[in-house]
Amino acid sequence: MDQLAFNMFLFLLSFIGCCAGQSILPDGPVDVILGRNVTLKTLVDKPDFAFMIWNFNNEKDQVHVATRSPTGIKVNKPYEGRVAVNETNGFLTLTFLTSADSGDFSLNIISSDGGTKTGEINLRVLEPVSDVVITSDLSEAIEHNSTVVLTCSAKGSFLKFAWFKGATAIVADDKRFILKEEELSSTLTINGVLRTDLSGQIYCTATNVLEKDKSAAFNLPVNYGPDTVSITPPNPAKFLRSKSNFNLSCSAVSIPPATFNWYQGQQKMEVSGSLLTLEMIEKHSLDLEVKEYTCRATNAKTQRVVPSPAVSFAVMEAISGAKVSGPIAVLIAGNSTANLSCKATAGTVKTTSWQKDGKTLSAGGRLVFSTDMSSIMINPLQKEDNGEYMCQLINPVNTDKASYKMLVNYGPESAMVKGETSVEENDNVVLTCSAASLPPANFTWKFNGTMTTTKTAEFKIEMARYKNSGTYMCEAHNPVTGKTTTYTHTMSVREEGTSEGLSDGAIAGIVIAVLVALGAAIGVIMYCRQKVPVESPY
Ligand SMILES: *[C@@H]1O[C@H](CO)[C@@H](O)[C@H](O)[C@H]1NC(C)=O
Ligand SMILES: *[C@@H]1O[C@H](CO)[C@@H](O)[C@H](O)[C@H]1NC(C)=O
Ligand SMILES: *[C@@H]1O[C@H](CO)[C@@H](O)[C@H](O)[C@H]1NC(C)=O
Ligand SMILES: *[C@@H]1O[C@H](CO)[C@@H](O)[C@H](O)[C@H]1NC(C)=O
Ligand SMILES: *[C@@H]1O[C@H](CO)[C@@H](O)[C@H](O)[C@H]1NC(C)=O
Ligand SMILES: *[C@@H]1O[C@H](CO)[C@@H](O)[C@H](O)[C@H]1NC(C)=O
Ligand SMILES: *[C@@H]1O[C@H](CO)[C@@H](O)[C@H](O)[C@H]1NC(C)=O
Ligand SMILES: *[C@@H]1O[C@H](CO)[C@@H](O)[C@H](O)[C@H]1NC(C)=O
Repeated sequence: MDQLAFNMFLFLLSFIGCCAGQSILPDGPVDVILGRNVTLKTLVDKPDFAFMIWNFNNEKDQVHVATRSPTGIKVNKPYEGRVAVNETNGFLTLTFLTSADSGDFSLNIISSDGGTKTGEINLRVLEPVSDVVITSDLSEAIEHNSTVVLTCSAKGSFLKFAWFKGATAIVADDKRFILKEEELSSTLTINGVLRTDLSGQIYCTATNVLEKDKSAAFNLPVNYGPDTVSITPPNPAKFLRSKSNFNLSCSAVSIPPATFNWYQGQQKMEVSGSLLTLEMIEKHSLDLEVKEYTCRATNAKTQRVVPSPAVSFAVMEAISGAKVSGPIAVLIAGNSTANLSCKATAGTVKTTSWQKDGKTLSAGGRLVFSTDMSSIMINPLQKEDNGEYMCQLINPVNTDKASYKMLVNYGPESAMVKGETSVEENDNVVLTCSAASLPPANFTWKFNGTMTTTKTAEFKIEMARYKNSGTYMCEAHNPVTGKTTTYTHTMSVREEGTSEGLSDGAIAGIVIAVLVALGAAIGVIMYCRQKVPVESPY
């Protein structure tokens, strides 16, 4: 039988078989990976046969594969070396499958009595799954704004795709997440992508009935922010000391990291970076008023600009070089006026207070404050005004103080001598003169009106004599005020051993004299009462 005739014969057989019914092959399809071997099994065992004929049908035509007869096997040329048909059960083994082997295989069993059984099974030769790769239409995305289209592509046959984020499957919701399958790829479209959508490991799998492959983890940067822009410290002191170590810093949640600009009120400062030092603020303006400071965070990718909350404070120069200036002229109680003024060489003074010898001064009487309290005037000065004056200059960042010693010359006030008024001969005598005075008074002494050589507060007599009895006048003199006061002290010197005061004889004399005077007075009164008034003869 030549080939053509044989083919003709087969054709006829298949025609018969198709009508005979009764399948001798299981339901397909049978899936096999490219390059592997397959054995197509039958549902028969030790059939009575004259021929077992395997044919291959692709969509175009039918090709004979091999025919088994009890005596041997005949293999069609294209299948030589690749095919075996088991004589016991008719199983067809095909090795080194190619994609051209995909198609329908049919088996005809023709028994020796001419009966025919026929069956057909589909064989799918699957390409292995490989090259599973995720690609993105964007190289980076912007949160809320971007629509990201991810494509998972793979090689293989009859593929199914799935998407995962970590271990969790990504499920389409047909709003933000849209999945679309094609033969060799799957697309995942994310509308209005969020920063969390693509964080973590995104991967996809491609699967067919026999195999599964997984892509490498995929990451797409999603730019976002700035969010939660904050300034530190959030509540700085209301007044900051000039040149002190103080910074404001700004932070924001942002990818890529935000850049920062600083504003004083609405005015942009020539400062960029997250740190604003007090030095920069002072360079920017010498205006020490309370100002608001904000930073604005900018994300170059999202093009969003977000301001921080505002903090406000004033920068204030510390007070230094406090000094009290007072009168230079010599001051005299009752006649001079003093003006004290308190000033600092640097800094802003908010409050001035005055103390004298540790007690707060208040206005009244001879003391007047200037309206800004920076100076005081005392008019006229009195000796009570002597003392140490302190002024305190205060602002919210520091205080400074200075003091002044006031020297008011006064006196001498009324002089006074202390000492004995009656001494015995040969006593030592000390008379002490005093008079309140600034500067201390100079003293001179006069005895019985005659200047002595004593120029000290004490007048000393050693071994008193009778001739020392008399008046001692102390003169206190203040060369600055030009005033002089005096005190006259009388002292008598008596005989040694005599008691102080009048003698017995003298006392008796005085008593008699008083009695005589009394008697005389009574006599005169009596005489006047008895005398009758006489009319004048003329
Ligand atoms: C297929 O069969 C051939 C011949 O029997 C053998 O050499 C080869 O290793 C088999 N291949 C596989 C993948 O089993
Ligand atoms: C044919 O199949 C039978 C039953 O499975 C088996 O015992 C026998 O070894 C097979 N013959 C060959 C040549 O493979
Ligand atoms: C402020 O910033 C400067 C410059 O970076 C730094 O030297 C200083 O220590 C900072 N001061 C404070 C209080 O953080
Ligand atoms: C993002 O979207 C907003 C609102 O639709 C738009 O105003 C803005 O310009 C967009 N940003 C970018 C960087 O395209
Ligand atoms: C007080 O001042 C007046 C005028 O300056 C002067 O004439 C007088 O001498 C002064 N008195 C004293 C005690 O210094
Ligand atoms: C003190 O100050 C007052 C007011 O400023 C001024 O009138 C007076 O002349 C001053 N007196 C002295 C002694 O400086
Ligand atoms: C007063 O006394 C002091 C020393 O106590 C002396 O230096 C001064 O010259 C005296 N002045 C007069 C005016 O005597
Ligand atoms: C001083 O005066 C007193 C009384 O006037 C007199 O008794 C005395 O003798 C006088 N002394 C001298 C030394 O002049």
